[in-house]
Amino acid sequence: MDSQNNNQPHEIEPIIEYEDCTDYVPSQEQVMYEREIQMRMRERRKAAERRRVNRNRTIALILLLAIIFIIVKSCSGGSGNKDESSSAADSSSVSSVSSDSSKVAEANINKTDSSKSSDSSTSGNVSTTGKKIEQINGMTFVDDVLIVNKTYSLPSDYDPGTSAAAQNAFDEMAAAAMNDGIYLFVNSGYRSYQEQETLYNNYAWQRGTDEADKVSSRPGHSEHQTGLTFDVNSTEFSFGDTQEAKWLAAHCAEYGFIIRYPQGKEDITGYSYEPWHIRYLGVEKAKEVADSGLCLEEYLGVTSDYKYAEDMNENTSTASSAVSSAADNTDTNYYADYNTDYNTDYNTDYNNYNTDYTDYTQY
Ligand code: DAL
Ligand code: ZN
Repeated sequence: MDSQNNNQPHEIEPIIEYEDCTDYVPSQEQVMYEREIQMRMRERRKAAERRRVNRNRTIALILLLAIIFIIVKSCSGGSGNKDESSSAADSSSVSSVSSDSSKVAEANINKTDSSKSSDSSTSGNVSTTGKKIEQINGMTFVDDVLIVNKTYSLPSDYDPGTSAAAQNAFDEMAAAAMNDGIYLFVNSGYRSYQEQETLYNNYAWQRGTDEADKVSSRPGHSEHQTGLTFDVNSTEFSFGDTQEAKWLAAHCAEYGFIIRYPQGKEDITGYSYEPWHIRYLGVEKAKEVADSGLCLEEYLGVTSDYKYAEDMNENTSTASSAVSSAADNTDTNYYADYNTDYNTDYNTDYNNYNTDYTDYTQY
């Protein structure tokens, strides 16, 4: 019976009843609803598009700003370094000499490791040419060279006398010159702080400080106080044209000397051309400086200007009180007053004393 029933075909009832929608007409309400849905979708697509555009614009703007920042940074970075390095030289920063013996050490310059520690707060500076600047006992050494100029001074009680090394080198040079038929002699060598003070004040009194500063150092600022300097033969400006001056310029480096205030470098050294004024550096250093064609300030990367001198002396707080005394005497106002006095009261005296110049021609 069951098998019979199974064999009989039967009609399957559809699960879903399909409706013929061909003629379906939506109501007005449905149409409105569908339109609203479509409108909202369009608005959403537009809003998404606007967000995408805005995002891309923001990214492009950030990239542009970043590129501009990098370019500006790299440009100002170069000049920034220059500023730093120039200020390193201008700041009259201080330093000292390494403990190894050098030509300068041989020349009676007292460099001690203990003095280094007292100036440790200002050590580690470098000049514009990257040379080490150190200060010991109120003296400044750049690349192991004792530098004395308008910026850098010596303590007033620094009185080493003539350096034996410099004197020996001069004697050797004078002997060699003599073999070439050239007579060289020392016109003026070591001068104490007090001697320089008298000399400079004479010039300032005669000519006023502006003129005096071109040819004579203020006390504490003369290389003659180092004992490493000689004025050779004549201090007349015409000396530069003599055979002696030419021999000196051509050969002095072989004996460890440089012409300290060369022609054409007046604005850098701070002094007029002095063909007679030689400074002992030791043979190696003197040859290096001479071969470079630079004056000592350029070679070392330092300034020579009284406007920086006070800064240095302030930094020399640990140096002896003698340095303060030197600073007092090199105070710009001190000589500014003197200059004014000269311009008002001594103008006529200057003319009277003009003929006495030869009495004071020690530079
Ligand atoms: N004549 C040089 C600059 C001096 O007075 O030391
Ligand atoms: Zn001199």
